Amino acid sequence: MAAHFGNYVDYSGAKPPASATHVRDPRLHILAATIPEIFANKHILDIGCNAGSVSIQLALDFHAAAVTGVDIDPKLIVQAEKLLALRASRATPPTSCDPPVVDYFPMSAVLTHGYRIEPHRKPVHTSSAASAAWPRVTFFSADWVLPSDQDATDSYHVILALSVIKWIHLEHRDAGLTTFFAKCSSSLKPGGYLVIELQTWDSYQKAIRPNHAPHFQETLKELRLRPETSFDTLLANHGLHLCASSDALPRRINVYQKA
Ligand SMILES: C[S@@+](CC[C@H](N)C(=O)[O-])C[C@H]1O[C@@H](n2cnc3c(N)ncnc32)[C@H](O)[C@@H]1O
Repeated sequence: MAAHFGNYVDYSGAKPPASATHVRDPRLHILAATIPEIFANKHILDIGCNAGSVSIQLALDFHAAAVTGVDIDPKLIVQAEKLLALRASRATPPTSCDPPVVDYFPMSAVLTHGYRIEPHRKPVHTSSAASAAWPRVTFFSADWVLPSDQDATDSYHVILALSVIKWIHLEHRDAGLTTFFAKCSSSLKPGGYLVIELQTWDSYQKAIRPNHAPHFQETLKELRLRPETSFDTLLANHGLHLCASSDALPRRINVYQKA
């Protein structure tokens, strides 16, 4: 699939690459410092999950109860499954007495003996209730703006839309963006959080590359909604109100809470 959805392989932006499994994503640290209860024991949807790094960290390093990652590019979902298999193979699951230990088995153990848990595996099941189906991370490929049988109302405590909205906006235009925000709102539980890593209007121009997405040139002229000035009002219309914001990293991170 051409990289005109922002579907860069092993997207890393300003952070370490997904393969650097020992380095945690700074955006997640900032969110956990801003809203301490945001991830632990929560059900989380990661829209535009790319190669799965953030989704997997949420489950293994930030103790989410269950994480679903969705990406429009099926090749990235295959990569995400492999990364999950790698990280799950290096961890010991929780027991009724002990928490999980991530990065317990060295990388060399996986290289020598192979994955303990294969890509596309079913979750780990053991006799211990605490470790049943751990880690609960699932991936699927879809254009999340479009209706699908994976849609679920009031399902998630947290939805992440990190560096993805520009691509959705350019592909689906203003009407599609409005649909996207409405779907985010209906998919969240009451009191749940939508996290947006903001891509500025200036950056939309950079998405237009002749070889990849020449049609974005025309789309750009039609768009009336702007990240900096329209999103807060649009989200408020769907019951999502800005409750926290961080400018600690180059891209602003906004958190909206469902009333
Ligand atoms: C720039 S990357 C950001 C990756 C990740 N969220 C992060 O910040 O590390 C944007 C991702 O969104 C995905 N994407 C774009 N449009 C999408 C859509 N409509 N539905 C699902 N995923 C989408 C792309 O394939 C790509 O992997």
